[in-house]
Amino acid sequence: MSESRFDDQLEAMVRARDDGLIGGVGLSNVSLHQLRRALASTEVVCVQNSYSVGARSSAPVLAECARHGIPFVPWAPLGSRGTLDARPIRRVAARHGATAAQVALAWLLAQGPNVLLIPGTASRAHLAENLAAGQLTLTGPDLAELDTVPTGS
Ligand SMILES: NC(=O)c1ccc[n+]([C@@H]2O[C@H](COP(=O)([O-])OP(=O)(O)OC[C@H]3O[C@@H](n4cnc5c(N)ncnc54)[C@H](OP(=O)(O)O)[C@@H]3O)[C@@H](O)[C@H]2O)c1
Repeated sequence: MSESRFDDQLEAMVRARDDGLIGGVGLSNVSLHQLRRALASTEVVCVQNSYSVGARSSAPVLAECARHGIPFVPWAPLGSRGTLDARPIRRVAARHGATAAQVALAWLLAQGPNVLLIPGTASRAHLAENLAAGQLTLTGPDLAELDTVPTGS
C-alpha cells in the first residue's frame, strides 16, 4: 500500500474515532514502518497481524507494540497447514502431555503480556483445548527448541 493511501485510511479512522463512531484506532497487517508512521500522529489501541511459531515476520511489529504497551492480536495463531506437525512442536507437546495446538498458543502467550489470542474454532473440544493452553507454561529449553520450527512469512 502506498504511503498516501495508508495516510488517507489512517486519517479516516482518526476522524471516525474523534467523531465517536469507533472506540479507538486499530491497525491490521501493518509493517513496522506503517506502525511507526501511525504512532507519530495518533494513539493506536491494538494491532492485528499474522504471527505464529511458524510465521514470525511480524516479530519487529510485536516488539514495537510491546515497547508502546499496545495489545498485539496474532491472526492465524496456529500457523499454516503443517505447522502443528513440526517435530519440535510435537516433542514439546509430548513432554508436557499437551497438544500441538496448545504448544503453539502457549508459545504466543510467552512472547509478551501484550499478546492476546483469538484462535478461531467451530469445535467445543478445540475451544476447551485452546482455553487450557493458558495453563501451559513453556520452559527456556522448550522455547529454544521451538526456535527450530521452520518459519515462513
Ligand atoms: N486481520 C486479518 O487480516 C485476519 C485474517 C484472518 C483471520 N483473522 C481473524 O483471526 C481470528 C482467527 O482466525 P484464523 O483464520 O486466524 O484461524 P485460526 O484461529 O488460525 O485457525 C482456525 C482453524 O484452526 C482449527 N483449530 C482451532 N483450534 C484447534 C485445535 N485446538 N486443534 C486443531 N485445530 C484447531 C479450526 O478448526 P476447528 O473449527 O475444527 O477447530 C480452524 O480450521 C478470527 O477472528 C479472524 O477473523 C484476521
